[in-house]
Amino acid sequence: MRRPILAANWKMHKTAAEAAEFVEEFLPLVADAGSVDIVLAPTFTALDRVANGLRGSNVALAAQNVNPEEQGAFTGEIAPGMLAELGCRYGIVGHSERRAIYSESDDFIASKAAALFAHGICPIVCVGETLEEREANRTLDVVGRQLVASLAGVPEARAAEVVVAYEPVWAIGTGKTATPELAQEVHAAIRSQLGECFGAAGDAIRIQYGGSVKPENVDTLMAQPDIDGALVGGASLAPETFARIVRFERLGGAS
Ligand code: PGA
Repeated sequence: MRRPILAANWKMHKTAAEAAEFVEEFLPLVADAGSVDIVLAPTFTALDRVANGLRGSNVALAAQNVNPEEQGAFTGEIAPGMLAELGCRYGIVGHSERRAIYSESDDFIASKAAALFAHGICPIVCVGETLEEREANRTLDVVGRQLVASLAGVPEARAAEVVVAYEPVWAIGTGKTATPELAQEVHAAIRSQLGECFGAAGDAIRIQYGGSVKPENVDTLMAQPDIDGALVGGASLAPETFARIVRFERLGGAS
């Protein structure tokens, strides 16, 4: 059985002080959340403060980005070893904002995922189609291509540690969520593609849904058989709201 994973992607929100304040309010709200993985991805400048606040808790730390190189002349970049040193357990790669705004390619994303792995950090690999691609019926093509190419550097023996996040670009920050059925359709296609890439390990890989996840829709999304978690932007910024998402209701016997 795949353990649910609920992750907060704070993007470029919260100073280190604001992030620390969130952690203080949030931890008691999820202390007894049970068998789920809970992850916070603050900005780089807040990682250290958040890491200190999370010590000894049931919440893990994630980075929002990484440079695949070990060190060197890469002004403004952060190396995977630096993230490992701060206690990051996860790292988000391939977010659509980075693909679109910073022109990141699948190859670059694959090298980031491999670099994280080399430092014991699990990559959360994001994939998703634009509205234009969906309307042209290209969703499964686009997502399939992004998936295979972005996971190219993942060692097969450790594939089960990867987390995939399906985030339709048209649903991110727009308030438009994919219906649970529509999300499940893509998640099922991703699952079968993961099986082709990694054999039995494909069944163990957790696939998060992302795109306007909120307390009002998380329960029905999580009830889908191939939706194993959520990557949450806007609704993760307030402690009570994200805590409600973490404590989603298990509908219809979903575990
Ligand atoms: P959103 O963002 O929840 O604000 O739509 C999700 C994401 O981009 O990861």
